[in-house]
Amino acid sequence: MRVTKHKLKELMKEKINKAGLSEEHADIAADVLAFADARGIHSHGAVRVDYYAERIAKGGLNANPDFKFEKTGPSTAVFDGDNASGHVAAKLAMDEAIKMAKESGLAAVGIKRIGHSGAISYFSRQAAKEQLIGLSVCQSDPMVVPFGGAEPYYGTNPITFCAPGKDGALLTFDMATTVQAWGKVLDARSKHKDIPDTWAVNEKGEPTTNPFDVKALLPAAGPKGYGLAMMVDILSGILLGLPFGNKVSSMYHDLTEYRNLGQLHIVINPEFFTDLSGFMENITKTMNDLNNIKPATDFDRVLYPGQDADIREQQYEEKGIEIVDEIYGYLVSDIIHNNSYDHKDPFAE
Ligand code: NAI
Repeated sequence: MRVTKHKLKELMKEKINKAGLSEEHADIAADVLAFADARGIHSHGAVRVDYYAERIAKGGLNANPDFKFEKTGPSTAVFDGDNASGHVAAKLAMDEAIKMAKESGLAAVGIKRIGHSGAISYFSRQAAKEQLIGLSVCQSDPMVVPFGGAEPYYGTNPITFCAPGKDGALLTFDMATTVQAWGKVLDARSKHKDIPDTWAVNEKGEPTTNPFDVKALLPAAGPKGYGLAMMVDILSGILLGLPFGNKVSSMYHDLTEYRNLGQLHIVINPEFFTDLSGFMENITKTMNDLNNIKPATDFDRVLYPGQDADIREQQYEEKGIEIVDEIYGYLVSDIIHNNSYDHKDPFAE
């Protein structure tokens, strides 16, 4: 099924609004979710709405949060999200970080006590649209084996970076520190497709291609992704006084309980370091240079990081966003949620 981004957003907004989020919060959350699908990051879009709706309906996301934003230094602040939707809190915290970086050149805003915030390039791009450099990292639930380990400790702890180029171009990088995000396994499950054997392990710690057999994910590039996951957990967990490592709350354990997750936004204002227009020109030059690198055997061309998503976004704009029929059916139905996630084994079918 193909739908426009606008229609998809409206359907998702209605569903999470009916589940209990205010219209304003449902609008922001649906915008972040539609952004993910619009860029082909289907792991963090409509596929998650049933889960969010159930968590909202069961009280595991605060529908009436009391946000507190406290500046703790010239370039630092803490945003207490009061366990609101992470999409909403992270978006509003980035709005504050942007204002600070415009004034002081730099902003580091810790966001504490929030729910899951989805595809986090939404937030780094907020900054880059304001001609700033945006960085963001966040915690996620423990489902990744440390290098050499046989049980999960860290989450898929993503990192995003976005820099502005000329004429509104954005260079957007956004990765889970695992070989693949957990949502990609969910996406493969929803499509009944196999996964590559490099993504995840089964209960014996052996590589598996069956998305339904996954018991833990593998860090990207072994000890390197493992080290990055550690860095993310320190910056968005320990630094903010939040639960960390394997004490980070589970996505599915108890949908009536708040998740208390953390995220950190860092915004850098290029104007405080160099000439802004020269900086943006060189970002565009970087993108062009990378595109002009001679492709390796079996590659048509070299893409700059994030260009795959830029291309999908453009294609979807022309043809509509492709959504799995089952998910679309749920979105247009009267069902608020299917009551299928609470206390679910995170790796269960
Ligand atoms: P991915 O593996 O699809 O892509 C990672 C990066 O590589 C992206 O920037 C992508 O644009 C780039 N890329 C991919 N193919 C490319 C190519 N051929 N040439 C150049 N660049 C290329 O993404 P991943 O790691 O699966 O993450 C997916 C999403 O999951 C992200 O949006 C991330 O923020 C989100 N996520 C969110 C979590 C949360 O708790 N909020 C946890 C983990 C991931």
